[in-house]
Amino acid sequence: MLYRELANRLQALISDEVYRPGTALPGVRRLSAQHKVSVSTAVNACQELERRGLLEARPRSGYFVRPPQAKRKPPRVRTVSKSPRPVTGQERVLQLIQSANDRNMVNLGTAIPAPDFLPMHAIEKAFRQVWREQRRRCIGYEFPPGAPELRTHIARHLAGLQCNVSPDQVLITNSCQESIAIALKQITQPGDIVVLESPTYYGLLQVVESLGLKALEIPTDPQEGISLGALELALESWPIAACVLVPSFSNPLGTCLSDECKQTLLGLLEKFNVPLVEDDIYGELPFAGPRPRPIKSWDKKGLVYYCSSSSKTLAAGLRVGWMVPGKNMPRAEYLQFINTVCVNTPSQLAMVQILEKSRYERMMRSARSAHAASVARMVDTVTQLFPTDTRLSRPTGGFVLWAELPGKVNTAELIEPALAAGVSFAPGSLFSASGKFSNCMRLNCAVQWDARVERGLKTLAKLVGKSGKK
Ligand SMILES: Cc1ncc(COP(=O)(O)O)c(C=O)c1O
Repeated sequence: MLYRELANRLQALISDEVYRPGTALPGVRRLSAQHKVSVSTAVNACQELERRGLLEARPRSGYFVRPPQAKRKPPRVRTVSKSPRPVTGQERVLQLIQSANDRNMVNLGTAIPAPDFLPMHAIEKAFRQVWREQRRRCIGYEFPPGAPELRTHIARHLAGLQCNVSPDQVLITNSCQESIAIALKQITQPGDIVVLESPTYYGLLQVVESLGLKALEIPTDPQEGISLGALELALESWPIAACVLVPSFSNPLGTCLSDECKQTLLGLLEKFNVPLVEDDIYGELPFAGPRPRPIKSWDKKGLVYYCSSSSKTLAAGLRVGWMVPGKNMPRAEYLQFINTVCVNTPSQLAMVQILEKSRYERMMRSARSAHAASVARMVDTVTQLFPTDTRLSRPTGGFVLWAELPGKVNTAELIEPALAAGVSFAPGSLFSASGKFSNCMRLNCAVQWDARVERGLKTLAKLVGKSGKK
């Protein structure tokens, strides 16, 4: 889509301050001549930037660059319980997850990108082609380790990220969550201690709960990432069986560890011989700059179990994930087999088509700028609507925003009235094994922005305001 390309180019010029906040963009005729596109493409590009919250249309004056909103303070780092604890009560998440099945719900609760953020056309074409050309294969099982062509593509993709992995070392799974469960089954026994960021993605806590492991939560700075000092102390103090981390654009904070921190972290784990389960599901989605390197790319000793999926980049409904399960590939294949027998065949083959067409990089570029804009818009709107002392994360990739609310707000108490009003969010306590973060909430920004979303956010702001005054 030409207009999106032009919108992306103009967005880059806005972020480089070639067009400064408050100033007018050249008129659409001028833009069309400058960029050698039709006037209607220029109009569409400006409208797209309006939707992304970067431009405002002023009647009879044209398009103006919107001033950035005042930045809110970032959330505070929490001290968390100093000893490992079993994870309990994660079933609470079901109510939230099930709310996403309701197509009328304004989904700010689950981290699922709306169709606008996904390459719908390419997916449709891939499925049609696969059905046309490989019908017989589609209706059969594709047993572990998964479709060979897909494993080759994943290995190639990983090679581009400086991970030296052959197709034989790649296992196709149903999801990143399944990859993580298989990795932890390979390296832990019930009762073992596993290190997690705090706050961390609730799905990781659920896997820890289901395997009867204990969680040791490490304080995590919303901008710097996991505290390496606290991690080192934990490694010295406890017999830790594994670390499960999201080093590139964590969920819910959106933090990306620097390359230097990633290498220091790996050095620490090597020193204590502790395996890392690396969840890289958001790694493809930086807002700017190059795609970050996974920790796996520095792993010379085979300590890193790499896990990812297509859920955030292509479509969650594909249910295709992958992992590099380390030394014991046959055990991982067997665990995948007894879990679900195998992975959906048409989805695996469709994904091969999408990767083969080499448009994948372009799709990712478009997704990245759309997510950057959607997060910026959410920050703007929450800043306008929520109490003034609300603190907000500053994600540098992915598409979720974490808000720390002032006063005595307990967001777990707001979920029922919010769902009843048709809007979901994720209560903060879901992201901790020790019930911390009860005054926080996570918002999914990858929504199709319309009046319903604005109304939903107004409803949340009202609920927060009322609860904070109690
Ligand atoms: C950090 C993280 N890991 C894993 C998952 C689960 O992804 P999948 O659908 O591939 O299981 C999610 C989904 O929200 C996530 O945010």
